[in-house]
Amino acid sequence: MIVPAKGVVGLHAEAVRENAEERKLVLVFFGSPNRDGTTAKLLNEFLKPLEGNTRIETVSAYERNIAPCIACNVCVGEERCSQPDFDDIDALIRAADVIVVATPVYNLSLPAPLKAIVDRTQRYFAARFSLGIRNPVEKHKLAAVLVTCGSKDCEGAQIIARQLKLAFSVINTSIAGMAVWPGTDFDEGRETFEKARNSARELALAIECEL
Ligand SMILES: Cc1cc2nc3c(=O)[nH]c(=O)nc-3n(C[C@H](O)[C@H](O)[C@H](O)COP(=O)(O)O)c2cc1C
Repeated sequence: MIVPAKGVVGLHAEAVRENAEERKLVLVFFGSPNRDGTTAKLLNEFLKPLEGNTRIETVSAYERNIAPCIACNVCVGEERCSQPDFDDIDALIRAADVIVVATPVYNLSLPAPLKAIVDRTQRYFAARFSLGIRNPVEKHKLAAVLVTCGSKDCEGAQIIARQLKLAFSVINTSIAGMAVWPGTDFDEGRETFEKARNSARELALAIECEL
């Protein structure tokens, strides 16, 4: 056993703290109302390889219930939003290195509370195109999109990818990849999980290599 010299324990604790602060930030937007549902299962598989090496912050759309954009246009004249409930998420978006969106498909789209969060990125769109700020969010991020669909065709996943690509374009974020779990509403959903899980893990490892 190594016995640290006097004072070294304190220094070590300091180093650990500094390391923790240096860890890359993974910001997860969780769009399912079910904490233990299929979306949570897919997300957990994605996060496994990143746990410990990164700091993971989760915004659960149904728990936060962020107000929808009210198109007040304050952001067209000033670089801010009139509604303060998004302020901490704004800070997390700016600090994040990776953004993960984990969501089920609802009516070929995002569940309403998550759609509200996506619509609140209008402030960055206005900053870019009304205020002329080239990069409203300075730090570049990679994104992973994880989607569960009840149907086997999973048309909704493609629509969600298009929606997110648009919103990501104004927060300096590029989609690194997607993992889709189709057919969750069918018995065969259990079989397709293995494929989706592998895609999620591979995507996480690919992103980790880029950090
Ligand atoms: C309101 C509602 C709308 C849905 N619409 C679709 C849809 O358009 N396409 C689809 O493939 N699945 C649809 N589903 C099925 C869910 O996407 C699927 O069951 C998903 O795995 C649920 O995720 P969870 O287990 O995290 O709740 C819908 C489910 C609900 C509750």
